Amino acid sequence: MSFVKRTHACGSIRAEHEGHTVTLNGWAHKVRDLGGVFFVDLRDRTGLVQLLCDPQTLRDLESIRHECCLSVRGVVRRRSPEAVNPKMPTGEVEVEVTSFAVLGPAKPLPFPVSDEEQMQNVNEELRIKYRYLDLRRPAMHRKLALRSAAIRKIRAYLDAREFLEIETPIITKSTPEGARDYLVPYRLEPGHFYALPQSPQQYKQLLMVGGMERYYQIAKCFRDESQRADRQPEFTQLDVEMSFVDQEDILQLAEGLTLSVCNELIEEFGLELDPVEPFARLTYDESVHLYGCDKPDLRFGLPLFDVSAQVAESGFGVFKNTIEAGGRVRGVRFPGGSSLSRKEVGALEEFCREFGAKGMASLAVVSVSEAGEGAVPVSDGLAVRSSIAKFFSVDELEGILKVCQAQPGDLLCFVADTYMVCNNALFRLRNLIGDRCGLRNPRKLRFAWVLDFPLFDWDADSAAWVPAHHPFTAPKTEDLVYFETDPGRVRADCYDIVCNGMEWASGSIRIHRPDIQAKVFSMLGIDEQTQKERFGHMLEAFQLGAPPHGGIAPGIDRLIMLLLGEENIREVIAFPKVAQGYDPMMDAPSPVDPQQWAELGLRPA
Ligand code: AMO
Ligand code: AMP
Repeated sequence: MSFVKRTHACGSIRAEHEGHTVTLNGWAHKVRDLGGVFFVDLRDRTGLVQLLCDPQTLRDLESIRHECCLSVRGVVRRRSPEAVNPKMPTGEVEVEVTSFAVLGPAKPLPFPVSDEEQMQNVNEELRIKYRYLDLRRPAMHRKLALRSAAIRKIRAYLDAREFLEIETPIITKSTPEGARDYLVPYRLEPGHFYALPQSPQQYKQLLMVGGMERYYQIAKCFRDESQRADRQPEFTQLDVEMSFVDQEDILQLAEGLTLSVCNELIEEFGLELDPVEPFARLTYDESVHLYGCDKPDLRFGLPLFDVSAQVAESGFGVFKNTIEAGGRVRGVRFPGGSSLSRKEVGALEEFCREFGAKGMASLAVVSVSEAGEGAVPVSDGLAVRSSIAKFFSVDELEGILKVCQAQPGDLLCFVADTYMVCNNALFRLRNLIGDRCGLRNPRKLRFAWVLDFPLFDWDADSAAWVPAHHPFTAPKTEDLVYFETDPGRVRADCYDIVCNGMEWASGSIRIHRPDIQAKVFSMLGIDEQTQKERFGHMLEAFQLGAPPHGGIAPGIDRLIMLLLGEENIREVIAFPKVAQGYDPMMDAPSPVDPQQWAELGLRPA
């Protein structure tokens, strides 16, 4: 028998097919040779069905090896009652094979793809080196099927709202989003390079100048930046841009799309998630003040507190001196943390140090009735236990407990430093506490808008203003007055969507006036000559009838991570890169032959 096309999918065979002759194509998931009989579980992407092969009538059965690709013909039989497998949808039947062909023989595999338990221990880089084998696993198929459905639904949502899907170039000119560019040498003029787009930002704005009004693209973006669990050098955005709109129009569109796409996927894929609810909204300042960051996890409360006023005159030098030097004392509650051992508290302190704090001081709060020796009674039936309690008066302690809204059993954790350093350590500590207290409910996706980002951030390393988003973001008109005097105070019409502590989208209203665009470039230290060279096309387009416009770009990879509760972005990408941007399957990047070097006018360094 040679290749014969399937009549049925493996996972679709049921008792009602009893007696039917079927042809199946797939892979030998499990092979069991029991001497007298030979069983194979045949797998295709729809599922598994058991094959029964009789060594008396079939020759060359030993050629059926684990994970070889097979075509089989056979008759569907009901299994005897004791052989029924209720765990398999096809468990009531088996297919008695009459002929078969090995379409693709298989050598022994580098890892056991059919054994989910063992797969959990397989090194990730090995899985990615043999991704085509890893992808045979139903778990991987489901991830990519979900990704495909998400993109389909996004397209349907936008197509129904008169958006045009438009492709923009991949070999192009640098468009800054804060990362390094991937460069492509230009053969005809040595020393000239294309850049791969960090995003289609400039093209989508130029499409607005071109009158397209509503654009989207499922866009590949390329950024040479350090990798993290939620970052890949090559990733996919849903890139959106609209003309004649204000910020609210874009928020409505993106929120509507998110709710619709997520809720449909949750239902269709039976995801273990509660329905997604309308987004919370908070300003950037509120977010940083309450949660210490611009991507808060809003599945739980525990806002940060600030006890600077309460401890400014205290006898605790670390706090007092920090405040005198213009810093703050901020902190977070750890419910139930009062029972942690000294060593466990030490580990929290170490955690804060890892993220830039100089230390972490803490007060354990207990009820007076349970307070042991050495506890200091404060008020309202509360007492504190801590090596630093002696530095504070009872009034000061009372003030602290009030600001923190302390409850019996809490560990109050404090960091004294600049506002930024406090926040950077404490937002992470808050997330850690959320994990420890089981407050980060895996069934919930809590989306929120973070609004009114600053236009510029101060970069201490280069001692210069850098764009908080990108240089095409519009300042708020009412803040233009601070442009020269206090650039850090200028807010932008710039917004993010965050979910469960992760940023999933960013966008803004854009500058469409050449004078303002030039002013922003100047503020960023880009002189006129460089503006012309790098962005002359934008500045010119803005002089040729540019409409007001704005947009947003949610990350597709991150959406799938959120929906699947995956913490590793590589799990939701068919062929991801591992550390240092390496692709172990293709062995890329790799050397090219000397002739190519010469052709491109390049010389080894
Ligand atoms: P931004 O740079 O914030 O904005 O990116 C938007 C969204 O893209 C996703 N993302 C990434 N996903 C995986 N790996 C990466 N390395 C990575 N970098 C970004 C995130 C992020 O929220 N042009 C603007 C958008 C606009 O203003 O319309 C932009 O690219 O989900
Ligand atoms: P030290 O006086 O350095 O031994 O610190 C006493 C306690 O204060 C320790 O628990 C330190 O972790 C803590 N501590 C030190 N520096 C800071 C800081 N900047 N913010 C909060 N706690 C601190």
